[in-house]
Amino acid sequence: MPNLLEAKKRTQIKPKTINYELEEKYKTLGKNKTYFIKTYGCQMNEHDTENIKAILEQMSFKETDIMENADLILLNTCAIRENAHNKVFGMIGRIKHLKESKPNIIVGVCGCMVQEEIIADEIKNKYKWLDIVFGTHNINELPKILANNLTNNKLELEVYSIEGDIIENMPVKRDSKYKAWVNIMYGCDKFCTYCIVPYTRGKQRSRTKENIIKEVEELKKQGYKEITLLGQNVNAYGKDLEVDYDMSDLLEETAKTGIERVRFVTSHPWDFTDKMIDVIAKYPNIMPYIHLPLQSGSNKILKLMGRRYTKEKYIDLYNKIKEKIPNCSVTTDIIVGFPGETEEDFNDTLDVVNTCKYDSAFTFIFSPREGTPAAKMKDDTPLEIKEQRLYKLNDLINKYAREANEKLKDKIIPVLLENISEKNEEMLMGYTDTMKLVNVKAPKEKLGQIVNVKIKDVKTWSMDGVIEDKS
Ligand code: SAH
Ligand code: SF4
Ligand code: F3S
Repeated sequence: MPNLLEAKKRTQIKPKTINYELEEKYKTLGKNKTYFIKTYGCQMNEHDTENIKAILEQMSFKETDIMENADLILLNTCAIRENAHNKVFGMIGRIKHLKESKPNIIVGVCGCMVQEEIIADEIKNKYKWLDIVFGTHNINELPKILANNLTNNKLELEVYSIEGDIIENMPVKRDSKYKAWVNIMYGCDKFCTYCIVPYTRGKQRSRTKENIIKEVEELKKQGYKEITLLGQNVNAYGKDLEVDYDMSDLLEETAKTGIERVRFVTSHPWDFTDKMIDVIAKYPNIMPYIHLPLQSGSNKILKLMGRRYTKEKYIDLYNKIKEKIPNCSVTTDIIVGFPGETEEDFNDTLDVVNTCKYDSAFTFIFSPREGTPAAKMKDDTPLEIKEQRLYKLNDLINKYAREANEKLKDKIIPVLLENISEKNEEMLMGYTDTMKLVNVKAPKEKLGQIVNVKIKDVKTWSMDGVIEDKS
């Protein structure tokens, strides 16, 4: 069972590296069976799903995208805000009905939500009909957990509140043939006062550069065009290793593999070094796009959040990025309605948005997470006021997002065509180097290529264009 006090601990003990290997006896466990998996969380959660899918397929399960047909249903959950919980519990309710008519299906819940003590308790007490529950630290144990459930026919709940290990050699079934996530670190040690992630994902553990670069080189060989180095706080990469090697070194070495596009998320402003900016500016295959969460523009609130930078420092960093990396797009995350946020504090946030004119942003109303310091802070702002602040902020964000797109009208920009467009089957969709969504009139043969696109039409959250070169 997960335990909040255990989850808070940070010791000096070095994480173990475990090499994943599927035991022979599990290889046919899923024969003639199908699985359905739904993912609720961030990129790390999505990438975990890619690992889970591959493990299940090694066990002979086949994927289905129709939940009602599946023999195994898994929900890979997120705990970041209350509404993430609500969505999952809504879905569990639907699945309960399904299980009543098909009692043999196996239903499982995994991911960050079940790492929370209160949720695990709730599952044990109210959702005993679930079959398997496992956390973020033991995805590698899925075969064993499934086998135990099949043998014992009762709820298998295996969630650990540990600082975590590093699991290498996990198989992966990637969603895309052209772009890939590459974990460079797990967990987070920042403990921003509102955030549940350090509790659900354990302590910061960086993978070795050798394993990371090997994975990137392999992906390049397989024809991947783009990789995204992944972590909750990638700029702190390597700080937990006994080597003199940091994120700027890793970015440089990744760029030198020659893979066409390198991205990275997420960048905490606190650890963003000048050396990193120089490396990003130097290598054309490191994309000019930085997600730089602000959270708040008020120094008082930033302090309460434990973010360890000020509004002024953030703006300095932003200016440096914009000066040194031409046409760099910058996006952000902002929380409104943090405990104690006054109208004046909120105006400070608007002020930073007016200065940084973000290309886009994710905005949220503060959601208290049980066990975090912010959940205990006095919060007397009514929800109605918080909602008004969110709308006001979103209007401003939308205005600048549109303005950023307008600047690209009639320009020619590189786009990696990665899929059929959702809005029109005749079109393909992809992202610019600066991470803007473009729908492109192009034949399907162009999928997987980076093409020059002339932007014809501009909206707030996407653009339309046509291929301009002969590639
Ligand atoms: N590691 C990233 C953030 C990951 S969580 C970083 O530090 O930037 C993604 C976003 O969710 C955060 O940037 C924050 O804006 C938001 N968030 C996290 N906890 C939240 C909470 N309790 N309430 C509302 N939003 C939250
Ligand atoms: Fe959460 Fe802060 Fe860690 Fe990001 S850096 S995951 S916001 S604790
Ligand atoms: Fe959610 Fe866990 Fe990611 S809480 S945002 S899935 S790290």
